[in-house]
Amino acid sequence: MVFGEFHRGRRLRRTPFLRDMVRETELRPDDLIQGYFVVDTADPNFERPISSLPGQSQLSVERLVARVGAAMEAGLRSAIIFGLPEKKDPVGSGAYADDGIVQKAVMRLKETYPELVVVTDVCLCEYTSHGHCGLIDGRGEVQNDPTLELLAKTAVSHARAGADIIAPSDMMDGRVGAIRMALDDADFSHIPIMSYAVKYASCFYGPFRDAADSTPAFGDRRGYQMDPANVREGLREAAADLSEGADMLIVKPAMPYLDVVRLLRDNFDVPLVAYQVSGEYAMLQAAIANGWLDGKGAILESLTGIKRAGADMIITYFAEQVLPWLSK
Ligand code: PBG
Repeated sequence: MVFGEFHRGRRLRRTPFLRDMVRETELRPDDLIQGYFVVDTADPNFERPISSLPGQSQLSVERLVARVGAAMEAGLRSAIIFGLPEKKDPVGSGAYADDGIVQKAVMRLKETYPELVVVTDVCLCEYTSHGHCGLIDGRGEVQNDPTLELLAKTAVSHARAGADIIAPSDMMDGRVGAIRMALDDADFSHIPIMSYAVKYASCFYGPFRDAADSTPAFGDRRGYQMDPANVREGLREAAADLSEGADMLIVKPAMPYLDVVRLLRDNFDVPLVAYQVSGEYAMLQAAIANGWLDGKGAILESLTGIKRAGADMIITYFAEQVLPWLSK
């Protein structure tokens, strides 16, 4: 048999060092942002495992500080904080209270680890009794413009507590502009906005809503989060947020939306973040716990895939677990 010239891709896959040399995508510790849930409680030792997020817990501020410290030893540089207030009300006042749970947690984290990059999620749904991301009118609809003022107040109170990056996740129209103006007015023009620009109405947020107790009491979020079937609309959302002053963009969830990550990467020159959400984490953990997938392999492949699609950074509940694997 005579073989003609053909492509020998295997030449570059022959040895580990050679494969390292030609690798196109690399997961770095600084790419990862770990999500944490912090609870307003008088018990400094409070720690309640979240059953649908194996390995993650609701933590008191003190437990959070200890856990972040351990993760920083392994190389963690950034964390995003979600709060569970002591009580909820229709206007979500816990979100913008100066002694709110996120504000207290951020203050403690920054005084303990000044170099840690603390990201705060700005939204009302964890703080409203009805579980929606904005104020509700008489017809049960989420009101856009009156909500903006509360989101802006929340962002300013987070910045005052020491947050390094503000990440609005509510999907109200105009919130990036409202937050930018409020931050600038309060002397926080140096604080960047990482906008959840393309956030889908996804069923993959299920475990988060268990963890944060934020399932809407009625209806759903499809009136403000995006339809999973749409992609061109994501370009409009991203362009709008950038025109209002967003410094970075988030696509959320990540794995079912890698085409959206790639599209944004190709169209916008700002740092791009993908959020590997609670349901993506739960799905992988479940398969790993059953012995159906190899844990380390599946986790690293999922994160590498998200980076390869074009994300510069990844918000993931796997950050703590992955960090020790990344030091060569
Ligand atoms: C707040 C918020 C949510 C998530 C992040 N910020 C919940 C939601 O929109 O319902 C979900 C994150 C996850 O599933 O890990 N609005």
